[in-house]
Amino acid sequence: MSFTPDFIEEVRSRISLSSIIGKRVKLTKKGRRQTGLCPFHNEKTPSFSVNDDEGYYHCFGCGAGGDAITFLRETEGLDFTEAVTRLAESAGIAIPDQRPVDPVKLQRRKTVMDALSAAAEFYKSQLATHGASAARAYIDDRGLSPDTKADFQIGFAPASGLRTHMQQKGFDEATLLESGLCGRSETNNEIYDYFRNRIMYPICNRQGAVIAFGARAMGDAMPKYLNSKDGPTFAKKAVLYGWQQARERVRRNLPLLIVEGYMDVIAVTQANVAGALAPLGTAMTEQQIALSWKLHDEPILCFDGDKAGQTAAMRAIERILPVLEPGKSVRIAVMPKGQDPDDILRHDGTEAFKAIINTAASLADALWERVAQQFNVDEPTSRAAFFQQLRDMVRTIGHNQTRQAYGDDIEYRIQSLRNSLRTATGTQSLSSPRRIHRPETGARRRLSAMLALLLAYPEKIADIYEELAMVDFGRKGGDTRLEDLKKEMLDIVLQDADLDAEALHHHLQGKGHGQILSELYSDDMIARLGKHPKDMETQKVSLLLGELLARLGR
Ligand code: UTP
Ligand code: MN
Repeated sequence: MSFTPDFIEEVRSRISLSSIIGKRVKLTKKGRRQTGLCPFHNEKTPSFSVNDDEGYYHCFGCGAGGDAITFLRETEGLDFTEAVTRLAESAGIAIPDQRPVDPVKLQRRKTVMDALSAAAEFYKSQLATHGASAARAYIDDRGLSPDTKADFQIGFAPASGLRTHMQQKGFDEATLLESGLCGRSETNNEIYDYFRNRIMYPICNRQGAVIAFGARAMGDAMPKYLNSKDGPTFAKKAVLYGWQQARERVRRNLPLLIVEGYMDVIAVTQANVAGALAPLGTAMTEQQIALSWKLHDEPILCFDGDKAGQTAAMRAIERILPVLEPGKSVRIAVMPKGQDPDDILRHDGTEAFKAIINTAASLADALWERVAQQFNVDEPTSRAAFFQQLRDMVRTIGHNQTRQAYGDDIEYRIQSLRNSLRTATGTQSLSSPRRIHRPETGARRRLSAMLALLLAYPEKIADIYEELAMVDFGRKGGDTRLEDLKKEMLDIVLQDADLDAEALHHHLQGKGHGQILSELYSDDMIARLGKHPKDMETQKVSLLLGELLARLGR
């Protein structure tokens, strides 16, 4: 339901903000304002102020502020419509009926939907015909099982034939044009099939009805994918591909992935490792992020490890921060350079893919690390710029309490970084037994995973000796023990290149690294890697190491 601005204004003007806030906060009158202890942060002296005349509250301590609607959204977790409804009810204002729908428009829409679903049937049946043998070969070659083909209603658009078929079924030209199934030629004014010689991927709404198509060329025809244009049933920016299949998998407690392409959704779904959704040839919009939160509190965004993918990841973070809601977030997973989830599943298998998904960074970690990459933390002015940039980004978070929580997190990390810089320059040798508490950052997690893998496969150390030597694991992971352990490992392989895992472990234990060794093989780490490194296939170890190595310098 959507309310008119007039209605919202009337609700706002008829309620008393202080009486609504007064139910939660003890307010004392001070001139034209009332003050109390802020419900959005912990305080002992009141800095929270309510202005009934203007209908706004503000906290001078934490910066929280807004009107009655904001207050209900943030204290009771209501959405906008629910908050307005609650206020209207408490003020005794009747809720307007839903806007009457135009019956003619409704009928048009229904006809277009019918046409789209009839076309999907047509394309599906075409895939079985003699003329579609190349299409069938193409689909088989991409590894789609019969169940998957049926589940995603994969079809084939022949060079011609849709228009005649649809007209025989009673759909008129106007409907064929409006549904995007046909176009009109500018030269002879005839209508023609819009999708020709393409594999057809029907795009469904959340109820499972076909609302558009994605169509892939076989071979090198351009464009690779042709998508339906926006129309009466379809707005690209508000739809995600694969909704029903993803919902079914999320209900089985599998994670939810946001991937780039149709084939990625299909491959992930077929592998049964997660639910998957994809935007339709554009970057994720705010609307699509909010939509994905209806299925899962923390979907994992998958990006290519190449430069374009990394830029896209940063853009996504910037887009998500302003729309974050309590309890909702995303994680960020980086694929090996130049590979998409479909490629990885096909070439390296399910376990390898799962292992990559398990290394996904939390949004807070991703924010910190990705911004950090743009600066040199060893250089004071660059470090200052780094902190500034982080704080600026946190300030874009729209939701008050969420912004505060992120603010706390960032300040905590900044403080930890300062502490570790302080220990790194001088007092280190005094090595006090009381260590500063270190937040588990993604960098620390990755470096630990890398060491855990190398400990189980010492023969791999020599291959990446230089890369390992160049990076300061202590500085980067916020724990000098990681660097000490790494140095010791490098030293010993120089002396004895054939050292096996057991001997290496023994040696390191003898050198006093027992505590960090047992931390590296914690249950948590094993869960994250999928299994104990010594039980992994070497192919998977190489893949994981490659992935971790690619992110080492960042
Ligand atoms: P990619 O070019 O990465 O292709 O486009 P892909 O998904 O890996 O496809 P395959 O594996 O070669 O079949 C990613 C997504 O971008 C959109 C599509 O939604 C595609 O799935 N896209 C791509 C287009 O809309 N048009 C194009 O010409 C290309
Ligand atoms: Mn692909």
